Amino acid sequence: PDPRRDILSSNPRNRVEAESIFQGDVDTDNTVVVCGAGGFIGGHLVADLLRQGFNQVRAVDIKPPNQWFQKFPQADNRSLDLREKENCYRALENADHVYNLAADMGGMGFIENNKALCMLSVTINTHLLMAARDMDIDRYFYSSSACVYNQELQDTADVEPLSEEDAYPALAEDGYGWEKLFSERMCRHFREDFGVTTRVARYHNVYGPFGTYDGGREKAPAALTRKAIEAKLSGSDDIVIWGDGTQTRSFMYIDDCVKGTQKIMHSDITEPINLGSDELVTINELVDVIEQAVEVDLDREYDLTKPQGVDGRNSDNTKILEELGWEPPTGLRDGMEVTAEWIEQQMRTHREAETTSRFAVPH
Ligand code: NAD
Ligand code: GDD
Repeated sequence: PDPRRDILSSNPRNRVEAESIFQGDVDTDNTVVVCGAGGFIGGHLVADLLRQGFNQVRAVDIKPPNQWFQKFPQADNRSLDLREKENCYRALENADHVYNLAADMGGMGFIENNKALCMLSVTINTHLLMAARDMDIDRYFYSSSACVYNQELQDTADVEPLSEEDAYPALAEDGYGWEKLFSERMCRHFREDFGVTTRVARYHNVYGPFGTYDGGREKAPAALTRKAIEAKLSGSDDIVIWGDGTQTRSFMYIDDCVKGTQKIMHSDITEPINLGSDELVTINELVDVIEQAVEVDLDREYDLTKPQGVDGRNSDNTKILEELGWEPPTGLRDGMEVTAEWIEQQMRTHREAETTSRFAVPH
């Protein structure tokens, strides 16, 4: 039994749905390729497909498998650089469904300082789409982002939720956001001109166990949880928050992302659609939630020199409710409780391993 289920299902908002993820029947003999499977969302998607009984799951990532966040021996695990065209054709051999979750990305700290690297992910989606067209793939999913939205609509913390048409006229997040907008547009034209069945979701900030929590690519929920645990473990109360803490975001729990992704993949929704929570919080409120989950009382310091991105961002879920009768249900407190527990366990394990190796007697 997964202890995460107990925490999440104890809250009625996170009702466990009896019906299947899909509206119609899905053939579990289909060959499903997950690109970016060594990463956060890709690893969870592979896990979920296997759990549902899909027996031909191909997991692809540029990283060697020993660096994947999650790895499953039941899957066909391949290490391939999907910027290379030939590798995309190899990855998609005999495939029915393709989820493209592969990208060089991270939180604000990464995307603000690595715009060219973020934009180079355009080659991944371009070559995968060409392979999907040439190899008659049934369905192709692209993971876009809320970073495609016009920045002028996000210049206040008290932001109006972003609805799908707010991406145009375009003024996306520099670098990363423009790559996402171009790639989702390319999905549209491959669908219209070449008949590839493409589906696109615009994810809003996703968090959960097995997400990056250190190293520079981490997003606010995991970064601030790590800092809170560091404070707790070192006996200090100090935490440094980027910005003044009044900026707002909504955060989606990973299980909702994985479920929504598959629902959208198997729907008739041809245009890009929001997949995010609409529970808007300030970063200070996020830290309140983290304090409770980690059981620590923090002294907050604000660093205005660090990357902050837009002042406010929220998801308008009108369309997904209309189309699917569903929206991400997990509350921030519940999701963060599970996430903080996982991060703390990881950090304690690493600390113990470091202490053991420091005092180990050499042979
Ligand atoms: P992640 O960084 O954990 O996973 C991405 C994976 O892609 C990594 O394992 C990476 O090694 C792999 N990859 C990078 N370049 C590759 C290449 N050339 N060939 C093969 N694999 C390559 O990120 P994630 O959080 O799992 O995000 C998955 C997708 O969702 C990405 O497209 C991301 O832009 C999008 N997205 C994520 C969020 C979020 O909050 N996590 C928000 C919006 C959009
Ligand atoms: N990363 C991080 N680390 N952010 C912090 C921290 C910290 O220690 N402290 C405060 N913040 C603030 C950032 O300054 C920013 O204002 C806010 O928290 C959210 O930062 P991120 O979670 O890093 O990114 P984001 O929400 O601006 O954008 C993310 O979500 C998009 C989708 O909604 C990124 O991951 C994008 O790549 C993604 O597409």
